[in-house]
Amino acid sequence: MRVALTGTPGTGKTTVAKILSDKFRVVHLNEFREARREYDEARDTYVVDIDYLREKIEAIQGNDVVIVEGHYAQDMPVDIAIVLRCHPDELKRRLQRRGYSEIKIMENVEAEAMGIITDECLSVFSPERVYEVDTTNRTPQEVARAVEEIISGRGEKYRKRISYMEEILKWY
Ligand SMILES: Nc1ncnc2c1ncn2[C@@H]1O[C@H](COP(=O)(O)OP(=O)(O)OP(=O)(O)O)[C@@H](O)[C@H]1O
Ligand SMILES: [Mg+2]
Repeated sequence: MRVALTGTPGTGKTTVAKILSDKFRVVHLNEFREARREYDEARDTYVVDIDYLREKIEAIQGNDVVIVEGHYAQDMPVDIAIVLRCHPDELKRRLQRRGYSEIKIMENVEAEAMGIITDECLSVFSPERVYEVDTTNRTPQEVARAVEEIISGRGEKYRKRISYMEEILKWY
């Protein structure tokens, strides 16, 4: 089974995937630097070659569980998508700690509040293949355990949709 571990930047994909790499094969999409194309000045990020990455994932042999980690993992050839979610206030603190610019922080916090990655997943997969794990008041180890539960087929409760939409109303 191929699993996309996705979510807005700062939700904890890499941290959680590293914990799970003891048990599962993990692919970090960020590590394919050769997939980077032009630099998008306005968004302060690289445009990546999704087709190139898809080929890389398709080329992986065997039937073992492979966790594909990155905020566009849902665009890879995978069977299910697990979206890490985070309360916008907490996400803001995490991204501030990283030293991100104010504009980049707000872009990501807004995207998380709107649930953009979950929407993207729902546009690609049927709803029963899309799982969400709230990382806000959990440790990375607890989140890793939730991901394991989902992979093992005991994660039905993570099909419940998470929404931070109401947080947006508090900003105005
Ligand atoms: N429950 C949690 N799960 C995961 N990370 C958490 C959790 N609580 C706090 N964190 C912290 O949040 C940060 C998440 O950073 P990480 O690099 O893993 O995010 P990411 O989703 O991979 O971001 P990016 O898309 O930019 O690569 C880390 O500093 C981590 O310690
Ligand atoms: Mg990461």
